[in-house]
Amino acid sequence: MIKPFEKPIYVTKPFLPPFEEYCQGLSEIWESRWLTNDGPILRRFTKELCNYFETDNLCLFNNGTLALQIALQGMGISGEVITTPYTFVATTHALFWNKIRPIFVDIEPDYYTLDPEKVEAAITPWTTAILAVHVYGHPCKLNALADVARRHNLKLIYDAAHAFGVKVGNTSIAHYGDLSMFSFHATKLFHSIEGGMLTFKEAGIKGIFDYLKNFGFKNEVEVVMPGTNAKMNEMQALMGIQVLKYLEEMIEKRSRITELYRERLKEVPGIKLVPSLSPEVKYNYGYMPIEVDEKEFGMSRDALYEELKKWNVHTRRYFYPLICDYPCYRSISVNGTLPVARRTAERIMTLPIYDSLGLSDVGIICDMIKSLQQRQGRSSIHR
Ligand SMILES: Cc1ncc(COP(=O)(O)O)c(C=O)c1O
Repeated sequence: MIKPFEKPIYVTKPFLPPFEEYCQGLSEIWESRWLTNDGPILRRFTKELCNYFETDNLCLFNNGTLALQIALQGMGISGEVITTPYTFVATTHALFWNKIRPIFVDIEPDYYTLDPEKVEAAITPWTTAILAVHVYGHPCKLNALADVARRHNLKLIYDAAHAFGVKVGNTSIAHYGDLSMFSFHATKLFHSIEGGMLTFKEAGIKGIFDYLKNFGFKNEVEVVMPGTNAKMNEMQALMGIQVLKYLEEMIEKRSRITELYRERLKEVPGIKLVPSLSPEVKYNYGYMPIEVDEKEFGMSRDALYEELKKWNVHTRRYFYPLICDYPCYRSISVNGTLPVARRTAERIMTLPIYDSLGLSDVGIICDMIKSLQQRQGRSSIHR
């Protein structure tokens, strides 16, 4: 008899550094009274990230959404951009706020990233860029997308919101495409409470991003473009510096959690796991997606989601609905019927994963899923 968890288990729980460590950092802020506007802690954080990503072409923001909006504006992207409907809604919002028309094309079924062949078929004379997402931190089909972008002279932009810490070979995912955006939101593996970062190929564009995030100010009296306010503050930067110290430890803990989920769920009928990533990918274990095949499992994804809630396990249906199905985007062009994205959105569920989630709790969550499948299996035999 499985008992519900006493305390809710959410899909994620933000990592926090030891309280004393953060307080020690805060005392420096209290001393300096420098809270925001390119403060010393932000500069230190920027330097640490430049070291981590081995590039100086990097710029920090108060969140990932504004970082992406500014990226598109600063790069002068316009017309149509080919993108995925299978992502968090901010990816598309960033296009909308730049008056760019999103053209949604389908994803590939293994890792749920944009399908390069479908991208090619959707290119029109108005296409200026591809905006792909390393969804769940799974690297997109990097070579194929780069090839399409090069042949059609399109900018290649990655929403890497989920992909902090991911490497391909020895190269950080940040080095692919013309530009990548990372989110440092509290729900992400790496966070600065809220925060965002751009990494980019062309060094010259950094100045534009710096203007755009600070109202367009060049100096005290000159505003050189209509910017916005997207500056990261000192408390955010401090959190980022401290969380960065624990990154590898967190990835290691999450990898053990993922291993256990995969081991325990691999033979449950109707549960499909993401295929193993190529050995050259260093993954960050940011998410734990599974697909539920209603016929084989004996219960729909939505029913499983509700049943787990009764046991105090709060999964998420990431990403459902598809962005093209939200009322505000329904009238916007969809390229084709998006069969893979639709099927995935109906079946996907992400299970709880965070560094402090105990392996014994992971085992219990797996037992819950198994017992629901067996219960359904038995009831269908008796029908
Ligand atoms: C894929 C994706 N893009 C963009 C964002 C927006 O980032 P932020 O919350 O930092 O604004 C998020 C997450 O929140 C995301 O998951």
